[in-house]
Amino acid sequence: MARLVRLAYTAGMDIREKMRRDWDRRARIDPRYWVAATQDATVESYEASGDRDAAMLVAGLRGRVGPEANVLDLGCGMGRLTVRAAERFGHVDGVDISPEMIEVARREHGARPGVAFHVNSGADLAGFPDAAYDLVFSYAVLSHVPPEVARAYFREVSRVLRPGGWFRYQFWVGRDQFSGSSDTISIRVYSPETFQQLNRDAGFSLHEIEEIDYEDPILQLKPVWVNAQKVGDPVAAGEGPREAADADDTSGRTLEYDLLLYLAIQHAEHGATAEAERVLEEAVGVDPKRPEAYIQWAAHRLDRDDVKGARTLFQAATEQVPTCAPAWLYQAQMCALLDDVAGANLALKAVAALANVEPEVKREAAALRRRLNRPRRR
Ligand SMILES: C[S@@+](CC[C@H](N)C(=O)[O-])C[C@H]1O[C@@H](n2cnc3c(N)ncnc32)[C@H](O)[C@@H]1O
Repeated sequence: MARLVRLAYTAGMDIREKMRRDWDRRARIDPRYWVAATQDATVESYEASGDRDAAMLVAGLRGRVGPEANVLDLGCGMGRLTVRAAERFGHVDGVDISPEMIEVARREHGARPGVAFHVNSGADLAGFPDAAYDLVFSYAVLSHVPPEVARAYFREVSRVLRPGGWFRYQFWVGRDQFSGSSDTISIRVYSPETFQQLNRDAGFSLHEIEEIDYEDPILQLKPVWVNAQKVGDPVAAGEGPREAADADDTSGRTLEYDLLLYLAIQHAEHGATAEAERVLEEAVGVDPKRPEAYIQWAAHRLDRDDVKGARTLFQAATEQVPTCAPAWLYQAQMCALLDDVAGANLALKAVAALANVEPEVKREAAALRRRLNRPRRR
């Protein structure tokens, strides 16, 4: 059980390292889910999302970028849009901070002509020459990085674009919403003024800004596709990404945990219970102080009659979240099933000592207590 409480967040880490570690972790869990297919987490929905987003990418360019174009996909993930763009343009370089994502991209698409995949530092395009690209595009990347990293990228994109080249990217513009500086998953929303300045400072002139037909349920906002053209050079550099390092910041943790619970439910609904358990273990690593993943995980163990395994997980839950009355009750129930009456009574005592226990949990606990302590017939 020691594995269960391994902490996923470590202090004192450079923001680039943290972005890489977080995205590598997501790639190891399920790269498709984390890059796109959050609805039902299937290969089919992933492919459909790629077709849809690539169609928007190309249509929105309005024929301004020709078939011979040299293109860069910033934050390419496992190459979902890179390979589709390669069907339309001369050559596409996919660039991503996560070696794990790039490994999947190379495995799945590496042999394909017209694409190449590269790992980068997470804040610049070092190694890519000046004025080499006709188009840089980026989907679902720039909103996940801290603002100073986004600023650094706008300048770098400007540097690698030829004069008059196009930067087409997905972004969120509305009322300013910035999560913690080291959050690598929540969406950041830029005010129209900051958004315009970001472009201006990097030498871009804004053209079309078009809403994407999807509303984020938390932000209640739709993202936009932006067409920006390189018309000048970036103004003097702003602050670098190093200063943003604050790896103690765990502001994205709740969202990541909830997304993992959702993914586990999807796996379970598709009958992939081993996958569901693997995802729940990851969720426990992301936040050992929340009970839901232990409880869901234990339920899978119970489904396969592994009562001891379930008890161990409920025990881990009560150790980590001693105020979780249902976890104590379930622990008591597992102990009872294993004829460990002392263990069951101890867990029931813990339920009784807690305040604000749900009536149903109280009722179940009382019923179990009566059953355990009923005089036995000879
Ligand atoms: C939501 S996924 C989108 C992937 C891809 N653009 C697509 O639409 O399929 C975000 C991707 O951005 C990458 N990423 C995150 N932060 C990055 C950074 N600072 N620099 C480069 N890539 C980054 C992640 O590794 C991940 O592959």
